[in-house]
Amino acid sequence: MFKVLTAVKVLATAAIASLVALSAQAADSISDFSLVDHNGKFFQLSRHTDKKAIVLFAHDDTRDVRRMVGELNEVMAQFDGQKVAFYMIDSSADASRAALVKIATKNEITLPILMDDSQIVAAELGISQLGDVVVIDPATKTVVYRGALNNRYAEGSKARNASEHYVVDALTAVLAGNEVAAAEVVGNGDAIEFTLPAAASISYSNDIVPILEQRCVSCHQEGGIAPFAMSNHQMIQGWSPMIREVLYTKRMPPGQVDSLYVNDFHDVYHITVEESQKLVQWIDAGAKNEDGTDALAKLRPVLAKWNHGEPDIIIQVPAQQIPATGVQDYRNLQIPLNLEKDVWVKAVEFVPGDSTVLHHIIAFAYGADGMNEFDLLNQGIGLGAYAPGNSINTYPDESGFPLKVGGGLMLQMHYTTTGKETTDASEIGLYLWDEPPARQVLGGSAAELEIDVPPFSTKEMVATKKFRKDSYLTMIGPHMHFRGYDANFKLVYPDGRTEEILNVPNYQFNWQKTYDFKEPLFIPAGTEMVFTGTFDNTEMNPFNPDPSSTISWGEQTWQEMFFGFFRYVEADSNI
Ligand code: HEC
Repeated sequence: MFKVLTAVKVLATAAIASLVALSAQAADSISDFSLVDHNGKFFQLSRHTDKKAIVLFAHDDTRDVRRMVGELNEVMAQFDGQKVAFYMIDSSADASRAALVKIATKNEITLPILMDDSQIVAAELGISQLGDVVVIDPATKTVVYRGALNNRYAEGSKARNASEHYVVDALTAVLAGNEVAAAEVVGNGDAIEFTLPAAASISYSNDIVPILEQRCVSCHQEGGIAPFAMSNHQMIQGWSPMIREVLYTKRMPPGQVDSLYVNDFHDVYHITVEESQKLVQWIDAGAKNEDGTDALAKLRPVLAKWNHGEPDIIIQVPAQQIPATGVQDYRNLQIPLNLEKDVWVKAVEFVPGDSTVLHHIIAFAYGADGMNEFDLLNQGIGLGAYAPGNSINTYPDESGFPLKVGGGLMLQMHYTTTGKETTDASEIGLYLWDEPPARQVLGGSAAELEIDVPPFSTKEMVATKKFRKDSYLTMIGPHMHFRGYDANFKLVYPDGRTEEILNVPNYQFNWQKTYDFKEPLFIPAGTEMVFTGTFDNTEMNPFNPDPSSTISWGEQTWQEMFFGFFRYVEADSNI
Protein backbone atom coordinates (compact mmCIF):
# COMPACT_ATOMS: atom_id res chain seq x y z
CA MET A 1 0.00 0.00 0.00
CA PHE A 2 1.36 3.37 -0.90
CA LYS A 3 0.19 6.79 0.06
CA VAL A 4 -1.12 9.03 -2.65
CA LEU A 5 -2.07 12.25 -1.06
CA THR A 6 -2.09 14.09 -4.32
CA ALA A 7 -4.59 11.80 -5.98
CA VAL A 8 -7.43 13.07 -3.91
CA LYS A 9 -8.93 16.45 -3.31
CA VAL A 10 -6.50 17.71 -0.75
CA LEU A 11 -7.38 21.27 -0.09
CA ALA A 12 -5.31 21.79 2.99
CA THR A 13 -1.85 21.54 1.51
CA ALA A 14 -0.75 25.13 1.23
CA ALA A 15 1.41 26.22 4.10
CA ILE A 16 -0.42 29.45 4.49
CA ALA A 17 -1.44 31.14 7.69
CA SER A 18 -4.28 29.51 9.48
CA LEU A 19 -7.25 31.58 8.46
CA VAL A 20 -8.30 31.34 4.84
CA ALA A 21 -11.65 32.42 3.57
CA LEU A 22 -12.37 30.57 0.36
CA SER A 23 -15.53 32.16 -0.84
CA ALA A 24 -15.39 30.63 -4.29
CA GLN A 25 -14.47 27.07 -3.41
CA ALA A 26 -16.34 27.19 -0.15
CA ALA A 27 -19.64 25.95 -1.45
CA ASP A 28 -18.13 22.72 -2.66
CA SER A 29 -20.80 20.62 -4.22
CA ILE A 30 -20.63 17.00 -3.12
CA SER A 31 -22.20 13.73 -4.13
CA ASP A 32 -24.93 12.13 -2.05
CA PHE A 33 -23.32 9.39 0.02
CA SER A 34 -24.17 6.54 2.37
CA LEU A 35 -22.10 5.05 5.16
CA VAL A 36 -22.71 2.44 7.82
CA ASP A 37 -21.89 3.46 11.38
CA HIS A 38 -20.10 1.47 14.08
CA ASN A 39 -23.43 0.19 15.37
CA GLY A 40 -24.34 -1.14 11.93
CA LYS A 41 -26.86 1.62 11.25
CA PHE A 42 -27.23 3.23 7.86
CA PHE A 43 -26.65 6.90 7.12
CA GLN A 44 -27.52 8.56 3.82
CA LEU A 45 -26.98 12.28 3.38
CA SER A 46 -30.07 12.79 1.23
CA ARG A 47 -32.25 11.30 3.96
CA HIS A 48 -31.34 14.21 6.23
CA THR A 49 -32.63 17.18 4.29
CA ASP A 50 -34.87 17.97 7.26
CA LYS A 51 -31.68 19.19 8.95
CA LYS A 52 -30.10 22.55 8.23
CA ALA A 53 -26.60 21.23 8.84
CA ILE A 54 -24.79 17.93 9.17
CA VAL A 55 -21.53 18.09 11.09
CA LEU A 56 -18.90 15.41 10.53
CA PHE A 57 -15.85 15.14 12.75
CA ALA A 58 -12.84 13.22 11.42
CA HIS A 59 -12.23 10.55 14.03
CA ASP A 60 -9.40 8.22 14.86
CA ASP A 61 -8.38 6.82 18.21
CA THR A 62 -5.50 9.22 18.87
CA ARG A 63 -4.74 11.36 21.87
CA ASP A 64 -5.28 14.58 19.95
CA VAL A 65 -8.69 13.48 18.76
CA ARG A 66 -9.73 12.30 22.22
CA ARG A 67 -8.74 15.70 23.54
CA MET A 68 -10.89 17.45 20.96
CA VAL A 69 -14.00 15.40 21.68
CA GLY A 70 -14.72 17.26 24.90
CA GLU A 71 -14.82 20.53 22.98
CA LEU A 72 -16.97 18.96 20.27
CA ASN A 73 -19.42 17.91 22.97
CA GLU A 74 -19.66 21.53 24.09
CA VAL A 75 -20.51 22.60 20.55
CA MET A 76 -23.14 19.88 20.37
CA ALA A 77 -24.68 21.02 23.63
CA GLN A 78 -24.83 24.55 22.29
CA PHE A 79 -26.90 23.42 19.27
CA ASP A 80 -29.03 20.93 21.12
CA GLY A 81 -32.61 20.87 19.88
CA GLN A 82 -31.72 22.71 16.67
CA LYS A 83 -31.75 21.28 13.18
CA VAL A 84 -28.13 20.15 13.33
CA ALA A 85 -26.98 16.51 13.39
CA PHE A 86 -23.51 15.51 14.54
CA TYR A 87 -21.55 12.45 13.45
CA MET A 88 -18.01 11.21 13.55
CA ILE A 89 -16.43 9.82 10.42
CA ASP A 90 -13.61 7.32 10.59
CA SER A 91 -11.62 7.15 7.37
CA SER A 92 -8.72 5.12 8.67
CA ALA A 93 -8.66 2.27 6.22
CA ASP A 94 -8.20 -0.37 8.90
CA ALA A 95 -11.00 0.33 11.38
CA SER A 96 -13.30 -2.62 11.91
CA ARG A 97 -16.77 -2.29 13.38
CA ALA A 98 -15.87 -4.35 16.43
CA ALA A 99 -12.79 -2.21 17.08
CA LEU A 100 -14.80 0.99 16.77
CA VAL A 101 -17.43 -0.30 19.19
CA LYS A 102 -14.66 -0.88 21.74
CA ILE A 103 -13.14 2.54 21.12
CA ALA A 104 -16.54 4.24 21.41
CA THR A 105 -17.20 2.51 24.72
CA LYS A 106 -13.75 3.23 26.07
CA ASN A 107 -13.81 6.89 25.07
CA GLU A 108 -17.48 7.41 25.93
CA ILE A 109 -18.34 8.41 22.38
CA THR A 110 -22.08 8.62 21.98
CA LEU A 111 -22.11 9.87 18.39
CA PRO A 112 -22.47 7.40 15.54
CA ILE A 113 -19.04 6.81 13.98
CA LEU A 114 -19.58 6.55 10.22
CA MET A 115 -17.19 4.02 8.72
CA ASP A 116 -15.58 5.42 5.58
CA ASP A 117 -13.39 2.38 5.07
CA SER A 118 -12.97 3.07 1.36
CA GLN A 119 -12.00 6.70 2.15
CA ILE A 120 -13.97 7.87 -0.86
CA VAL A 121 -16.21 10.04 1.29
CA ALA A 122 -13.27 11.75 3.00
CA ALA A 123 -11.83 12.39 -0.44
CA GLU A 124 -15.13 13.80 -1.67
CA LEU A 125 -15.55 16.06 1.36
CA GLY A 126 -11.94 17.21 1.32
CA ILE A 127 -11.19 15.82 4.76
CA SER A 128 -7.43 15.42 4.98
CA GLN A 129 -6.56 15.63 8.67
CA LEU A 130 -7.78 14.01 11.85
CA GLY A 131 -9.94 16.32 13.87
CA ASP A 132 -11.15 18.16 10.77
CA VAL A 133 -14.75 19.20 10.95
CA VAL A 134 -16.96 19.42 7.90
CA VAL A 135 -20.29 21.22 7.96
CA ILE A 136 -22.63 20.16 5.18
CA ASP A 137 -25.83 21.78 4.05
CA PRO A 138 -27.80 18.63 3.19
CA ALA A 139 -30.44 20.46 1.19
CA THR A 140 -27.94 21.78 -1.36
CA LYS A 141 -25.34 19.05 -0.84
CA THR A 142 -22.58 21.54 -0.28
CA VAL A 143 -19.73 21.75 2.18
CA VAL A 144 -20.14 25.13 3.87
CA TYR A 145 -17.24 24.80 6.30
CA ARG A 146 -14.20 22.61 6.46
CA GLY A 147 -11.26 22.53 8.85
CA ALA A 148 -10.40 23.17 12.47
CA LEU A 149 -13.01 23.10 15.23
CA ASN A 150 -11.60 26.29 16.74
CA ASN A 151 -8.34 28.24 16.73
CA ARG A 152 -6.61 25.89 19.17
CA TYR A 153 -6.61 23.32 16.41
CA ALA A 154 -5.71 25.57 13.50
CA GLU A 155 -2.46 25.11 11.65
CA GLY A 156 0.43 26.82 13.41
CA SER A 157 -1.68 27.67 16.42
CA LYS A 158 -0.12 28.09 19.84
CA ALA A 159 -3.39 29.05 21.47
CA ARG A 160 -4.05 27.31 24.79
CA ASN A 161 -7.66 28.30 24.88
CA ALA A 162 -9.98 28.75 21.99
CA SER A 163 -10.91 32.31 21.23
CA GLU A 164 -12.21 31.76 17.71
CA HIS A 165 -14.94 29.15 17.29
CA TYR A 166 -15.11 28.44 13.57
CA VAL A 167 -17.62 25.60 13.65
CA VAL A 168 -19.91 27.45 16.06
CA ASP A 169 -19.72 30.50 13.79
CA ALA A 170 -20.44 28.41 10.71
CA LEU A 171 -23.44 26.71 12.32
CA THR A 172 -24.80 29.98 13.64
CA ALA A 173 -24.56 31.46 10.15
CA VAL A 174 -26.17 28.45 8.48
CA LEU A 175 -29.06 28.35 10.95
CA ALA A 176 -29.65 32.06 10.41
CA GLY A 177 -29.58 31.54 6.65
CA ASN A 178 -26.40 33.59 6.28
CA GLU A 179 -23.24 32.95 4.33
CA VAL A 180 -20.44 31.33 6.32
CA ALA A 181 -17.63 33.87 6.67
CA ALA A 182 -14.65 31.57 7.18
CA ALA A 183 -15.35 28.61 4.97
CA GLU A 184 -12.06 26.87 5.52
CA VAL A 185 -9.47 26.98 8.26
CA VAL A 186 -6.61 24.55 7.88
CA GLY A 187 -6.34 22.35 10.96
CA ASN A 188 -3.27 21.00 12.73
CA GLY A 189 -4.33 17.36 13.08
CA ASP A 190 -2.31 14.42 11.79
CA ALA A 191 -2.69 13.85 8.06
CA ILE A 192 -4.98 10.97 7.15
CA GLU A 193 -3.10 8.33 5.22
CA PHE A 194 -4.99 7.83 2.00
CA THR A 195 -4.69 4.43 0.35
CA LEU A 196 -6.75 5.28 -2.71
CA PRO A 197 -5.04 3.92 -5.80
CA ALA A 198 -3.71 6.55 -8.18
CA ALA A 199 -5.83 6.78 -11.30
CA ALA A 200 -2.76 6.29 -13.50
CA SER A 201 -2.22 2.87 -11.96
CA ILE A 202 -5.72 1.64 -12.87
CA SER A 203 -6.18 -0.18 -16.13
CA TYR A 204 -9.58 -0.53 -17.76
CA SER A 205 -8.88 -4.06 -19.00
CA ASN A 206 -7.01 -5.43 -16.01
CA ASP A 207 -8.79 -3.67 -13.16
CA ILE A 208 -12.16 -2.29 -14.16
CA VAL A 209 -13.55 -4.98 -16.45
CA PRO A 210 -12.91 -7.83 -13.97
CA ILE A 211 -14.75 -5.86 -11.26
CA LEU A 212 -17.75 -5.22 -13.50
CA GLU A 213 -17.73 -8.84 -14.65
CA GLN A 214 -17.70 -10.20 -11.13
CA ARG A 215 -20.01 -7.70 -9.43
CA CYS A 216 -22.40 -6.26 -11.99
CA VAL A 217 -22.66 -8.03 -15.34
CA SER A 218 -24.83 -10.94 -14.12
CA CYS A 219 -27.72 -8.43 -14.10
CA HIS A 220 -26.35 -5.67 -16.35
CA GLN A 221 -26.29 -7.61 -19.63
CA GLU A 222 -28.54 -7.96 -22.65
CA GLY A 223 -31.73 -9.62 -21.44
CA GLY A 224 -30.69 -9.21 -17.79
CA ILE A 225 -32.90 -7.67 -15.12
CA ALA A 226 -31.03 -4.35 -14.94
CA PRO A 227 -32.05 -1.37 -17.07
CA PHE A 228 -28.79 -1.13 -19.03
CA ALA A 229 -26.26 -3.64 -20.30
CA MET A 230 -22.59 -3.19 -19.43
CA SER A 231 -21.70 -4.34 -22.90
CA ASN A 232 -18.75 -2.14 -23.84
CA HIS A 233 -16.54 0.72 -22.72
CA GLN A 234 -18.76 3.39 -24.24
CA MET A 235 -21.71 2.24 -22.15
CA ILE A 236 -19.66 2.32 -18.97
CA GLN A 237 -18.22 5.73 -19.73
CA GLY A 238 -21.69 7.09 -20.54
CA TRP A 239 -23.15 5.69 -17.34
CA SER A 240 -20.09 6.50 -15.25
CA PRO A 241 -21.60 9.47 -13.34
CA MET A 242 -24.53 7.24 -12.35
CA ILE A 243 -22.17 4.38 -11.48
CA ARG A 244 -20.22 6.74 -9.27
CA GLU A 245 -23.41 7.81 -7.54
CA VAL A 246 -24.68 4.26 -6.90
CA LEU A 247 -21.30 3.38 -5.42
CA TYR A 248 -21.29 6.43 -3.16
CA THR A 249 -24.83 5.70 -1.98
CA LYS A 250 -24.25 1.91 -1.74
CA ARG A 251 -27.29 1.31 -3.97
CA MET A 252 -25.42 -1.06 -6.26
CA PRO A 253 -24.72 -3.90 -6.15
CA PRO A 254 -28.23 -4.13 -4.70
CA GLY A 255 -29.28 -5.47 -1.33
CA GLN A 256 -25.92 -4.95 0.39
CA VAL A 257 -25.54 -6.43 3.84
CA ASP A 258 -23.18 -5.40 6.59
CA SER A 259 -19.72 -6.34 5.31
CA LEU A 260 -19.19 -8.48 8.43
CA TYR A 261 -21.62 -11.06 7.04
CA VAL A 262 -20.75 -11.12 3.36
CA ASN A 263 -18.91 -14.42 3.60
CA ASP A 264 -21.48 -16.27 5.69
CA PHE A 265 -24.07 -16.62 2.94
CA HIS A 266 -24.38 -17.80 -0.64
CA ASP A 267 -24.91 -15.23 -3.39
CA VAL A 268 -24.66 -12.00 -1.43
CA TYR A 269 -24.19 -9.09 -3.81
CA HIS A 270 -21.33 -6.97 -2.68
CA ILE A 271 -18.28 -5.02 -3.72
CA THR A 272 -15.02 -4.76 -1.83
CA VAL A 273 -13.46 -1.57 -0.54
CA GLU A 274 -10.59 -1.82 -3.04
CA GLU A 275 -12.98 -2.39 -5.94
CA SER A 276 -15.10 0.64 -5.06
CA GLN A 277 -11.96 2.74 -4.74
CA LYS A 278 -10.69 1.65 -8.14
CA LEU A 279 -14.00 2.32 -9.86
CA VAL A 280 -14.38 5.76 -8.30
CA GLN A 281 -10.79 6.81 -8.99
CA TRP A 282 -11.04 5.56 -12.57
CA ILE A 283 -14.33 7.38 -13.12
CA ASP A 284 -12.98 10.60 -11.60
CA ALA A 285 -10.09 10.44 -14.06
CA GLY A 286 -12.49 10.32 -17.01
CA ALA A 287 -13.38 6.59 -17.19
CA LYS A 288 -10.94 6.11 -20.04
CA ASN A 289 -9.93 3.01 -21.91
CA GLU A 290 -6.33 3.39 -23.04
CA ASP A 291 -5.78 -0.29 -23.74
CA GLY A 292 -6.46 -0.31 -27.47
CA THR A 293 -8.98 -3.11 -27.09
CA ASP A 294 -12.30 -3.41 -25.28
CA ALA A 295 -12.14 -6.31 -22.83
CA LEU A 296 -15.75 -5.78 -21.75
CA ALA A 297 -17.12 -6.05 -25.30
CA LYS A 298 -15.31 -9.37 -25.64
CA LEU A 299 -16.96 -10.92 -22.60
CA ARG A 300 -20.26 -11.99 -24.20
CA PRO A 301 -21.83 -13.39 -21.04
CA VAL A 302 -24.32 -16.18 -21.54
CA LEU A 303 -27.60 -15.68 -19.78
CA ALA A 304 -28.50 -19.12 -18.47
CA LYS A 305 -32.21 -19.70 -18.05
CA TRP A 306 -31.69 -22.19 -15.22
CA ASN A 307 -28.77 -21.52 -12.90
CA HIS A 308 -28.68 -25.12 -11.70
CA GLY A 309 -28.93 -26.79 -15.09
CA GLU A 310 -32.10 -28.40 -16.45
CA PRO A 311 -34.61 -29.00 -13.61
CA ASP A 312 -36.23 -32.39 -12.96
CA ILE A 313 -39.69 -30.87 -13.02
CA ILE A 314 -40.65 -27.68 -14.81
CA ILE A 315 -43.91 -26.06 -13.82
CA GLN A 316 -45.48 -23.65 -16.28
CA VAL A 317 -47.45 -21.25 -14.14
CA PRO A 318 -50.76 -20.49 -15.88
CA ALA A 319 -50.38 -17.18 -17.72
CA GLN A 320 -51.63 -14.25 -15.68
CA GLN A 321 -53.15 -11.15 -17.28
CA ILE A 322 -51.91 -8.02 -15.60
CA PRO A 323 -53.87 -4.84 -16.30
CA ALA A 324 -52.16 -1.53 -16.99
CA THR A 325 -53.15 0.09 -13.73
CA GLY A 326 -54.76 -0.65 -10.39
CA VAL A 327 -53.89 -2.47 -7.22
CA GLN A 328 -53.52 -6.21 -7.62
CA ASP A 329 -54.74 -8.47 -4.84
CA TYR A 330 -52.57 -11.47 -4.06
CA ARG A 331 -53.42 -14.34 -6.40
CA ASN A 332 -53.40 -17.81 -4.89
CA LEU A 333 -52.97 -20.48 -7.53
CA GLN A 334 -53.36 -24.15 -6.74
CA ILE A 335 -51.15 -26.19 -9.04
CA PRO A 336 -51.65 -29.98 -8.85
CA LEU A 337 -48.41 -31.79 -9.69
CA ASN A 338 -49.80 -35.22 -10.68
CA LEU A 339 -46.83 -36.96 -9.09
CA GLU A 340 -46.55 -40.73 -9.47
CA LYS A 341 -44.51 -41.07 -6.30
CA ASP A 342 -43.51 -38.93 -3.34
CA VAL A 343 -40.45 -36.83 -4.15
CA TRP A 344 -37.90 -34.74 -2.25
CA VAL A 345 -36.96 -31.31 -3.55
CA LYS A 346 -33.37 -30.14 -3.13
CA ALA A 347 -33.58 -26.75 -4.86
CA VAL A 348 -36.18 -24.51 -6.47
CA GLU A 349 -35.63 -21.93 -9.16
CA PHE A 350 -38.01 -19.34 -10.54
CA VAL A 351 -37.88 -17.77 -13.97
CA PRO A 352 -40.10 -14.69 -14.03
CA GLY A 353 -42.26 -14.23 -17.12
CA ASP A 354 -42.43 -10.46 -16.96
CA SER A 355 -40.12 -9.22 -14.23
CA THR A 356 -41.43 -5.67 -14.57
CA VAL A 357 -44.75 -6.66 -12.98
CA LEU A 358 -43.98 -9.81 -11.00
CA HIS A 359 -43.38 -8.68 -7.47
CA HIS A 360 -43.09 -12.04 -5.78
CA ILE A 361 -44.04 -15.70 -5.84
CA ILE A 362 -44.04 -17.84 -2.73
CA ALA A 363 -44.35 -21.56 -3.40
CA PHE A 364 -45.98 -23.59 -0.62
CA ALA A 365 -46.63 -27.31 -0.79
CA TYR A 366 -49.87 -29.10 -0.03
CA GLY A 367 -50.56 -32.78 0.38
CA ALA A 368 -53.26 -35.23 -0.76
CA ASP A 369 -55.73 -33.84 1.75
CA GLY A 370 -55.49 -30.38 0.24
CA MET A 371 -54.50 -27.09 1.74
CA ASN A 372 -54.39 -26.55 5.43
CA GLU A 373 -53.69 -23.08 6.68
CA PHE A 374 -51.73 -24.22 9.72
CA ASP A 375 -49.54 -26.32 7.51
CA LEU A 376 -48.88 -23.40 5.20
CA LEU A 377 -47.95 -21.05 8.04
CA ASN A 378 -45.45 -23.59 9.33
CA GLN A 379 -43.69 -23.51 6.01
CA GLY A 380 -42.45 -19.94 6.45
CA ILE A 381 -41.73 -19.10 2.86
CA GLY A 382 -42.54 -22.63 1.77
CA LEU A 383 -40.30 -24.40 -0.70
CA GLY A 384 -38.99 -21.11 -1.85
CA ALA A 385 -39.74 -17.62 -2.94
CA TYR A 386 -39.04 -15.46 -5.93
CA ALA A 387 -38.33 -11.77 -5.71
CA PRO A 388 -36.06 -9.71 -7.95
CA GLY A 389 -32.49 -10.84 -7.41
CA ASN A 390 -33.57 -13.94 -5.55
CA SER A 391 -34.57 -16.53 -8.11
CA ILE A 392 -32.84 -19.58 -6.68
CA ASN A 393 -33.55 -21.32 -3.36
CA THR A 394 -31.23 -24.10 -2.26
CA TYR A 395 -31.26 -26.34 0.80
CA PRO A 396 -28.26 -27.73 2.62
CA ASP A 397 -26.77 -31.18 2.08
CA GLU A 398 -28.85 -34.10 3.17
CA SER A 399 -32.05 -32.10 3.45
CA GLY A 400 -35.08 -31.66 1.28
CA PHE A 401 -38.68 -30.59 1.05
CA PRO A 402 -41.26 -33.36 0.54
CA LEU A 403 -43.92 -33.28 -2.16
CA LYS A 404 -46.59 -35.94 -1.85
CA VAL A 405 -48.58 -37.92 -4.39
CA GLY A 406 -51.96 -36.27 -4.79
CA GLY A 407 -50.61 -32.90 -3.70
CA GLY A 408 -49.10 -29.93 -5.41
CA LEU A 409 -48.02 -26.35 -5.02
CA MET A 410 -49.92 -23.39 -3.69
CA LEU A 411 -48.46 -20.29 -5.28
CA GLN A 412 -48.93 -16.90 -3.75
CA MET A 413 -48.41 -14.46 -6.60
CA HIS A 414 -48.16 -10.73 -6.21
CA TYR A 415 -48.12 -8.27 -9.09
CA THR A 416 -47.62 -4.55 -9.35
CA THR A 417 -48.81 -2.57 -12.36
CA THR A 418 -46.62 -0.44 -14.60
CA GLY A 419 -49.04 1.48 -16.80
CA LYS A 420 -48.78 -1.15 -19.52
CA GLU A 421 -51.02 -4.20 -19.83
CA THR A 422 -49.03 -7.41 -19.96
CA THR A 423 -49.06 -11.18 -19.47
CA ASP A 424 -46.81 -12.97 -17.04
CA ALA A 425 -46.00 -16.59 -17.77
CA SER A 426 -43.47 -17.58 -15.15
CA GLU A 427 -41.82 -20.95 -14.74
CA ILE A 428 -40.71 -22.87 -11.69
CA GLY A 429 -37.98 -25.48 -11.83
CA LEU A 430 -37.77 -28.19 -9.17
CA TYR A 431 -34.55 -30.11 -8.61
CA LEU A 432 -35.06 -33.45 -6.86
CA TRP A 433 -33.03 -35.79 -4.68
CA ASP A 434 -32.57 -39.26 -6.16
CA GLU A 435 -32.84 -40.82 -2.69
CA PRO A 436 -34.81 -39.44 0.26
CA PRO A 437 -32.47 -37.13 2.21
CA ALA A 438 -31.84 -37.47 5.95
CA ARG A 439 -33.77 -34.40 6.95
CA GLN A 440 -36.85 -32.44 6.08
CA VAL A 441 -36.48 -28.70 5.60
CA LEU A 442 -38.77 -26.74 7.92
CA GLY A 443 -39.66 -23.08 7.94
CA GLY A 444 -41.12 -20.38 10.07
CA SER A 445 -40.88 -16.75 10.99
CA ALA A 446 -40.43 -14.32 13.81
CA ALA A 447 -43.40 -12.08 13.03
CA GLU A 448 -45.23 -9.13 14.47
CA LEU A 449 -48.68 -8.51 13.06
CA GLU A 450 -49.52 -5.66 15.41
CA ILE A 451 -48.13 -2.79 13.40
CA ASP A 452 -49.00 0.78 14.25
CA VAL A 453 -46.68 3.48 12.96
CA PRO A 454 -47.96 7.05 13.34
CA PRO A 455 -47.57 9.57 10.50
CA PHE A 456 -44.16 11.20 10.04
CA SER A 457 -42.42 8.90 12.49
CA THR A 458 -40.02 6.02 12.71
CA LYS A 459 -40.52 2.95 14.81
CA GLU A 460 -38.28 0.08 15.80
CA MET A 461 -39.96 -3.31 15.79
CA VAL A 462 -38.93 -6.57 17.42
CA ALA A 463 -40.29 -10.06 16.82
CA THR A 464 -39.02 -13.27 18.38
CA LYS A 465 -39.30 -17.00 17.88
CA LYS A 466 -38.03 -19.81 20.07
CA PHE A 467 -36.54 -23.04 18.74
CA ARG A 468 -37.82 -26.04 20.70
CA LYS A 469 -35.35 -28.63 19.44
CA ASP A 470 -31.66 -28.66 18.53
CA SER A 471 -31.65 -27.42 14.95
CA TYR A 472 -29.55 -26.04 12.13
CA LEU A 473 -30.55 -22.69 10.71
CA THR A 474 -30.17 -22.70 6.93
CA MET A 475 -31.76 -19.47 5.68
CA ILE A 476 -32.94 -16.13 7.01
CA GLY A 477 -34.74 -13.36 5.18
CA PRO A 478 -36.28 -10.10 6.36
CA HIS A 479 -39.58 -8.96 4.92
CA MET A 480 -41.04 -5.49 5.22
CA HIS A 481 -42.56 -3.13 2.66
CA PHE A 482 -41.82 0.44 1.56
CA ARG A 483 -41.24 1.72 5.11
CA GLY A 484 -38.67 -0.94 5.89
CA TYR A 485 -35.38 0.84 6.70
CA ASP A 486 -33.10 -1.73 8.29
CA ALA A 487 -33.22 -5.34 9.45
CA ASN A 488 -31.23 -7.38 11.91
CA PHE A 489 -31.20 -10.97 13.12
CA LYS A 490 -29.79 -12.07 16.47
CA LEU A 491 -29.80 -15.29 18.40
CA VAL A 492 -30.13 -15.39 22.16
CA TYR A 493 -28.75 -18.73 23.30
CA PRO A 494 -30.07 -20.60 26.34
CA ASP A 495 -26.94 -19.57 28.27
CA GLY A 496 -27.88 -15.93 27.72
CA ARG A 497 -25.22 -15.20 25.12
CA THR A 498 -26.39 -12.98 22.24
CA GLU A 499 -24.99 -13.31 18.74
CA GLU A 500 -25.79 -11.09 15.77
CA ILE A 501 -26.06 -13.27 12.65
CA LEU A 502 -27.09 -10.77 9.98
CA ASN A 503 -27.35 -7.01 9.74
CA VAL A 504 -28.95 -5.33 6.74
CA PRO A 505 -28.25 -1.62 7.30
CA ASN A 506 -30.20 -0.48 4.25
CA TYR A 507 -33.19 -2.72 3.72
CA GLN A 508 -34.47 -2.30 0.19
CA PHE A 509 -38.00 -3.32 -0.48
CA ASN A 510 -37.30 -3.85 -4.19
CA TRP A 511 -34.74 -6.49 -3.36
CA GLN A 512 -36.43 -9.17 -1.33
CA LYS A 513 -33.27 -11.10 -0.63
CA THR A 514 -33.23 -14.24 1.41
CA TYR A 515 -29.87 -15.38 2.74
CA ASP A 516 -28.81 -19.03 2.57
CA PHE A 517 -26.07 -19.90 5.04
CA LYS A 518 -22.97 -21.49 3.51
CA GLU A 519 -22.62 -23.51 6.71
CA PRO A 520 -25.92 -24.16 8.48
CA LEU A 521 -25.78 -22.65 11.95
CA PHE A 522 -26.27 -24.90 14.98
CA ILE A 523 -29.05 -23.72 17.27
CA PRO A 524 -29.39 -25.43 20.64
CA ALA A 525 -32.93 -26.08 21.86
CA GLY A 526 -34.31 -23.08 23.70
CA THR A 527 -32.53 -20.49 21.52
CA GLU A 528 -34.57 -17.45 20.66
CA MET A 529 -34.34 -15.68 17.32
CA VAL A 530 -34.73 -11.93 17.63
CA PHE A 531 -35.67 -10.10 14.45
CA THR A 532 -35.36 -6.32 14.71
CA GLY A 533 -36.19 -3.74 12.10
CA THR A 534 -37.06 -0.10 11.71
CA PHE A 535 -39.99 1.40 9.86
CA ASP A 536 -39.37 4.85 8.42
CA ASN A 537 -42.71 6.50 7.84
CA THR A 538 -41.22 9.98 7.51
CA GLU A 539 -41.00 12.14 4.42
CA MET A 540 -37.23 11.47 4.44
CA ASN A 541 -37.90 7.96 3.17
CA PRO A 542 -37.80 8.31 -0.63
CA PHE A 543 -39.90 5.15 -1.07
CA ASN A 544 -42.67 6.26 1.26
CA PRO A 545 -45.89 6.61 -0.74
CA ASP A 546 -47.64 8.63 2.00
CA PRO A 547 -45.91 9.74 5.20
CA SER A 548 -49.13 11.32 6.48
CA SER A 549 -50.87 7.98 6.97
CA THR A 550 -50.83 5.70 9.99
CA ILE A 551 -49.36 2.36 8.98
CA SER A 552 -50.88 -0.95 9.95
CA TRP A 553 -50.47 -4.55 8.84
CA GLY A 554 -51.64 -5.42 5.36
CA GLU A 555 -50.80 -7.33 2.23
CA GLN A 556 -50.40 -4.36 -0.06
CA THR A 557 -47.09 -2.62 -0.42
CA TRP A 558 -48.31 0.66 1.08
CA GLN A 559 -49.35 -1.26 4.15
CA GLU A 560 -46.71 -3.05 6.18
CA MET A 561 -45.49 -6.46 7.16
CA PHE A 562 -42.87 -7.50 9.66
CA PHE A 563 -41.47 -10.97 9.14
CA GLY A 564 -38.09 -12.46 9.87
CA PHE A 565 -38.42 -15.61 7.81
CA PHE A 566 -36.17 -18.60 8.33
CA ARG A 567 -35.61 -22.15 7.21
CA TYR A 568 -34.06 -24.84 9.37
CA VAL A 569 -33.60 -28.56 9.81
CA GLU A 570 -33.80 -30.40 13.09
CA ALA A 571 -30.51 -31.84 14.29
CA ASP A 572 -32.00 -35.30 14.71
CA SER A 573 -33.20 -36.86 11.51
CA ASN A 574 -36.93 -36.31 11.35
CA ILE A 575 -37.76 -38.57 8.45
C1 HEC B 1 -28.72 -8.44 -8.91
C2 HEC B 1 -28.74 -7.66 -10.08
C3 HEC B 1 -27.84 -6.44 -10.18
C4 HEC B 1 -26.49 -6.35 -9.91
C5 HEC B 1 -25.56 -7.45 -9.43
C6 HEC B 1 -26.12 -4.99 -10.18
N1 HEC B 1 -27.20 -4.26 -10.61
FE1 HEC B 1 -27.23 -2.28 -11.07
N2 HEC B 1 -29.26 -2.38 -11.37
C7 HEC B 1 -30.03 -3.52 -11.27
C8 HEC B 1 -31.43 -3.15 -11.45
C9 HEC B 1 -32.60 -4.12 -11.46
C10 HEC B 1 -31.48 -1.77 -11.61
C11 HEC B 1 -32.72 -0.88 -11.77
C12 HEC B 1 -33.52 -0.83 -10.53
C13 HEC B 1 -32.81 -0.24 -9.37
O1 HEC B 1 -32.23 0.85 -9.51
O2 HEC B 1 -32.84 -0.87 -8.30
C14 HEC B 1 -30.09 -1.32 -11.56
C15 HEC B 1 -29.69 0.01 -11.72
C16 HEC B 1 -28.38 0.43 -11.82
C17 HEC B 1 -27.97 1.76 -12.18
C18 HEC B 1 -28.89 2.88 -12.60
C19 HEC B 1 -29.48 3.58 -11.44
C20 HEC B 1 -30.52 4.56 -11.88
O3 HEC B 1 -31.04 5.20 -10.99
O4 HEC B 1 -30.82 4.68 -13.07
C21 HEC B 1 -26.62 1.80 -12.15
C22 HEC B 1 -25.71 2.97 -12.48
C23 HEC B 1 -26.17 0.48 -11.75
N3 HEC B 1 -27.26 -0.32 -11.56
C24 HEC B 1 -24.85 0.13 -11.57
C25 HEC B 1 -24.44 -1.12 -11.09
C26 HEC B 1 -23.06 -1.45 -10.80
C27 HEC B 1 -21.89 -0.50 -10.95
C28 HEC B 1 -23.06 -2.74 -10.38
C29 HEC B 1 -21.88 -3.56 -9.93
C30 HEC B 1 -20.97 -2.95 -8.99
C31 HEC B 1 -24.43 -3.21 -10.40
N4 HEC B 1 -25.23 -2.20 -10.84
C32 HEC B 1 -24.84 -4.49 -10.01
C33 HEC B 1 -29.56 -4.79 -11.03
C34 HEC B 1 -28.28 -5.11 -10.64
